[in-house]
Amino acid sequence: MKLKVFSGIRPSGKLHLGNYLGAIKNWMELQDPPSHKASEGTAKPAQVIFMVADYHAITTPYDPKTYQQQIMDVVLDYLAAGIDPDKALLIRQSKVPQHTELAWLFNTVTPVSWLDRLPTYKEQLAKAPKYNHVGLLDYPVLMAADILIYKSNLVPVGEDQLPHIDLTNEIAKKFNSMFGEVFEPVKPHLAEGARIMSLKDPTQKMSKTPSASSGQAGDESCIFLVDTPDIIRAKTKKAVTDSDKEVKYDEKEKPAISNLLTIYHLLSQDSIKKQVLSIKEIENQYESKSYVDFKNDLAEVVVNFLQPFQAKRKEFEDDPKKVIQILESSEEKARQLADKTLTEVKEKMGLL
Ligand code: TYM
Repeated sequence: MKLKVFSGIRPSGKLHLGNYLGAIKNWMELQDPPSHKASEGTAKPAQVIFMVADYHAITTPYDPKTYQQQIMDVVLDYLAAGIDPDKALLIRQSKVPQHTELAWLFNTVTPVSWLDRLPTYKEQLAKAPKYNHVGLLDYPVLMAADILIYKSNLVPVGEDQLPHIDLTNEIAKKFNSMFGEVFEPVKPHLAEGARIMSLKDPTQKMSKTPSASSGQAGDESCIFLVDTPDIIRAKTKKAVTDSDKEVKYDEKEKPAISNLLTIYHLLSQDSIKKQVLSIKEIENQYESKSYVDFKNDLAEVVVNFLQPFQAKRKEFEDDPKKVIQILESSEEKARQLADKTLTEVKEKMGLL
C-alpha cells in the first residue's frame, strides 16, 4: 500500500508548542523518515501534503483585515519547521476548490446526527454561542473532504482530532457502500506530544483560542513558536506547578509538572548522545533541585530549541516571492491530484 500523508492546521492564531509537538514534529518525521524506520514499516511516503485550513478557521470568530497575514504566518511556521517543498506540497485550502466541492457531495451522504454529537462542535459552540451556523456543524465534513480528495491514508494529528478521523472513515464507508469503492481507510498518526496542556491550567489543552471554562486567552497559557527568549522565560516562570516539590512524572496526581516534563523531554537535546533526554533522565537530574531550577532550565531548553526555528522563519519572511512561488506551485499540483478524485466521485454519483 502506498503511504499518502495529509494534515492541516487552522490559521486561527499564532502556532504554539502544542501544535508543534502534537502535529508538525510528527509531520516532519513522516516527510523525512529516518532510514532505520524503514525496517519498522515507516517507509518513505508516496505523497505528502500539508495544508493551511483557511476555510476551517472562518467558522469561528476572526478578523478579515488581518486574515491574510495570519494565513501567511502559518505558512512561514510550516516552512521554518522544515516542510520541504521538494518532498511535500504546501497548500492553502481555499486555493484548491475541489475540497469544498467534494465536501458538498459528502454533505449529501452525511447524517446530521453524526455531526451534532461531536465534542469539537459542542466545545466551539460553548466558546462562541453566536457562531452556531451550518459551517461550524459541517466543519468535519470539509475535513473529511480535505483528506479524501487526495486519497490520503495517514493523517498525523493531535488527540483532539481523532473523532474527526473516525467520521472521515464513516463518510468514506458510507460513500463506498452507496456508490462503489473509491476510498480506502484512513489512519491517524499520533505523536507522544499528542496532548500538550496549558501552562496555566493543566486540565485544559494548550490552545490558540480561549477555553470556555477558564476563559483564558492563549497568551499566558501558550508558548508560541515566535515568542522571544524573554517572553518564553517569563511564561515558563509563571507556569503553574503541583502542590508538592518533587520533579516527578505522574499524569494523574501531578498533571502540571508532568506536562512540563513532557515538553522538556520532547525538546531536549543531549549534547553527547544527540537524542532527547528521557523523562527518567530528567527526573534524576532534578532529584534534589526545586521547581524553580527545573523551570529555569526548561525555559532555556525551549529557547534553544526555538532559536534555529526563528532564524529560518526570518529567512523566509524576508523572501516573500519565494514563499508565494512555493505555495502556487504546490497548489497547482494539488488541484491536478484533486481533480482526478473529484471526477471519479462525480462519475460514480451520476454527475458526469
Ligand atoms: P487545529 O488548528 O486545531 O490544530 C492543529 C493541530 O495541532 C494539534 N494540537 C495539539 N496537539 C497537542 N497538544 C495541543 N495542546 C494541541 N493543540 C492543537 C491538533 O490536534 C492538530 O493536529 N481540524 C484541524 C485542521 C484540519 C485538518 C484537516 C487536520 C482541517 N482539515 C485535515 C488534518 C486533516 C484543526 O482544527 O486543527
